[in-house]
Amino acid sequence: MPARNHNQWKANPPLKGGEWIDSRIYSDPEIYEQELEDIFKKVWVPICHESELPDPYDFRTATIAREPVVVARGPDNVVRAFLNVCPHRGMMIERRPSGSFEEAAPSGNPKRMTCMFHGWQYDMKGNCVYISREKEGYQDRLCKEDTGLRRLRCEVNFGGFIWVSLDDKVMSLEDWCGDAFKCIRKPLEAEPLEIFHYHKAVIGTNYKLWHDTNSEFYHDFMHYHNRVTGFNDAYFARENTAFKHGHVNVGSFEVQYDEYEGFESRAELSFPGLPPNQWYMVDLFPGMNFNLRGSALRCDIVTPLGPDKVMIEFRGFGLKSDTPEERRTRIDHHNSIWGPFGRNLHEDLIGVAGQGSAMLPGSENRRILHGRHENNLIHDEVGMRHYYDEWGKWMNRLPSDPSQPYMPAEAAE
Ligand code: FES
Ligand SMILES: [Fe+2]
Repeated sequence: MPARNHNQWKANPPLKGGEWIDSRIYSDPEIYEQELEDIFKKVWVPICHESELPDPYDFRTATIAREPVVVARGPDNVVRAFLNVCPHRGMMIERRPSGSFEEAAPSGNPKRMTCMFHGWQYDMKGNCVYISREKEGYQDRLCKEDTGLRRLRCEVNFGGFIWVSLDDKVMSLEDWCGDAFKCIRKPLEAEPLEIFHYHKAVIGTNYKLWHDTNSEFYHDFMHYHNRVTGFNDAYFARENTAFKHGHVNVGSFEVQYDEYEGFESRAELSFPGLPPNQWYMVDLFPGMNFNLRGSALRCDIVTPLGPDKVMIEFRGFGLKSDTPEERRTRIDHHNSIWGPFGRNLHEDLIGVAGQGSAMLPGSENRRILHGRHENNLIHDEVGMRHYYDEWGKWMNRLPSDPSQPYMPAEAAE
């Protein structure tokens, strides 16, 4: 078949409904805005890990769908989440990424969240506890009880991650993703985890393309290390499992680390209850990933910044009980795969940045193929098909033609 002219290039592929999607869903600004409203404002988002707020008054800030959020540990040790917005005139209250409210700051009282604009103060439960010149300005018309912070749904679960939702009516976190976590729940919850790595990257691509690369393994052809340490019968027998709400697991196998020169088995430091050198992936709709390679856990959290821009926060975890030597080894295991000079992460970033460069807003729409069927095994693209079917339901759009309303894949043929 020669290279195709424009009409041939625009024709639909000889695949079934659900086996390809339209690239507009990665590049259309209107679709992006709707995703923030109809997906990100309605789901559970893991903001950070409890080990990032070890002490009372520790806090961390983030944004969900452009809304600023602060999570803080109270003197009662409970972690709570609030909109990081002052009820007075709408200023963002805390602008640092993380820190502690315990000590006084030039524009903050001790043990308070203080809005530096006009000095209103809030306690760790979000109650307003001080309005400057309250009586002089408001007499008896407005008081502190009327001006508490906006409380957000917040739960700590699945190994100590702090989950927040902007939707008061969101389903329970357990219902949302409990089934998808089953395969690694015991290793994650056997004992407290601790963060040892954090970095973030702003990448010129759509957030869903990052999620795709975490949930399909056909691109292991790009990862030399994965080919050398995998690509045996056990690797090709890894199963993809789909769960309700668009989540997916990529099943485990035993990685042959010592097949790669300079690497060695990670069996000794495997997470509790995990067979040696196993590797599980939990991919959560709409774009969070938990990647357990035996001795180190990686978690990716995406914050979409535009149709063609995403911030990805990468975290690495070990056990809180690690000795200094065990921790060093875990960090080495983590970084040798996922660090800036590791064997894997930068290759994924090159892949998705290349897709992003070719799907900028305004680019002509084209088909993106998700049609590989291999009995739901590792190179089957079932994970992405499952994800985009869910995406279509939340958006009421057909992924293969987003100008049409959602319908099940079979009906779309
Ligand atoms: S905007 Fe916060 S005190 Fe005025
Ligand atoms: Fe990859």
